[in-house]
Amino acid sequence: MKAVLLTNHGGPEMLTYGEAPDPSAGSGEVVVDIHAASVNAADYKGRLGSARSNLRFPHILGRDFSGVVSEVGPGVTDLAVGDAVFGVCDQGIEGAYAEKIAIKAAIIAKKPDRLGHVEAAAMALTGLTALWALEDTAQLKAGETILIQGGAGGVAGFGIQLAKHIGATVITTASANNHDYVRRLGADRVIDYNAQDFTKAVSDCDVVFDTVGGDVQIRSYAVLKPGGRLVWIAAAPEGSQPPRSDVKVLRPGVARDRKHLERILELLDAGAVWPPNLIRYKLTDAAEAHRVSESRHLQGKLVFEVR
Ligand SMILES: NC(=O)c1ccc[n+]([C@@H]2O[C@H](COP(=O)([O-])OP(=O)(O)OC[C@H]3O[C@@H](n4cnc5c(N)ncnc54)[C@H](OP(=O)(O)O)[C@@H]3O)[C@@H](O)[C@H]2O)c1
Repeated sequence: MKAVLLTNHGGPEMLTYGEAPDPSAGSGEVVVDIHAASVNAADYKGRLGSARSNLRFPHILGRDFSGVVSEVGPGVTDLAVGDAVFGVCDQGIEGAYAEKIAIKAAIIAKKPDRLGHVEAAAMALTGLTALWALEDTAQLKAGETILIQGGAGGVAGFGIQLAKHIGATVITTASANNHDYVRRLGADRVIDYNAQDFTKAVSDCDVVFDTVGGDVQIRSYAVLKPGGRLVWIAAAPEGSQPPRSDVKVLRPGVARDRKHLERILELLDAGAVWPPNLIRYKLTDAAEAHRVSESRHLQGKLVFEVR
């Protein structure tokens, strides 16, 4: 099969399009012929490498996908060849920038016809992450106020819609050219973080959802009311400590399971969420997609149309 191969840690030029071995379905697994795979911020971070990274090259990046089951392994009874499915690779496993992937059947879900492959791939990891962060971890409630950092991004975009559906007041940060977009997603108030210091403009939040990290996370503590919750998915500066002890600091586990993927579909059916703005690429254009992702100022999601 064809795949995007990461040949070493480094720049986007380390991504090459070439041949990789076909996967086969082990016990409890299916092979999925991938129709679409999405680009997540984790992908360029993995490409760049870190002290903890011990990838074996060539490595295939990519965490979420949508496609059609083409092989069923022993013990799988709830999926069949020809089923359209979508999902997220298990923790610590990647490989969705490819024409095929083998994956545990129990952690993927059937994709309804009304949702296209590109849209399903775009919503898989972002939806799963936002659900774990806001519903399971922060336990956001109707009537609460939430500040979502980085509203135009993939996870935050789903998070804005989910928080509105829950009944919270949603404040978000975005650069000026993304304000219409985040308002369309449901944000009640938008702060241009380039023009205004959000710590001066916002106070007394019940929850901050930080998808930006770094210094933004440290400054976010200032806008929480006593007893508030800071839930984060992008790290604070290394070695930094929470500056307040009267708030909860929470990191969602983001386990992969069918239940949360089906919750995404339930929210779509309820009209509570819809797919993000999409920028489409071919697998052969992976390096260009990574340049955009790494610039950290995209709107919505970048998705590969694989077939
Ligand atoms: N399981 C997990 O823990 C998990 C899962 C998914 C993602 N993540 C992490 O979560 C983070 C977000 O991921 P993502 O895929 O949603 O990101 P993304 O789609 O790449 O989003 C980047 C967005 O951040 C905004 N942004 C950049 N700097 C900002 C700032 N200073 N203030 C406010 N907004 C800012 C940009 O919009 P503007 O142009 O408006 O600045 C852009 O839309 C990444 O660090 C990713 O690795 C973790």
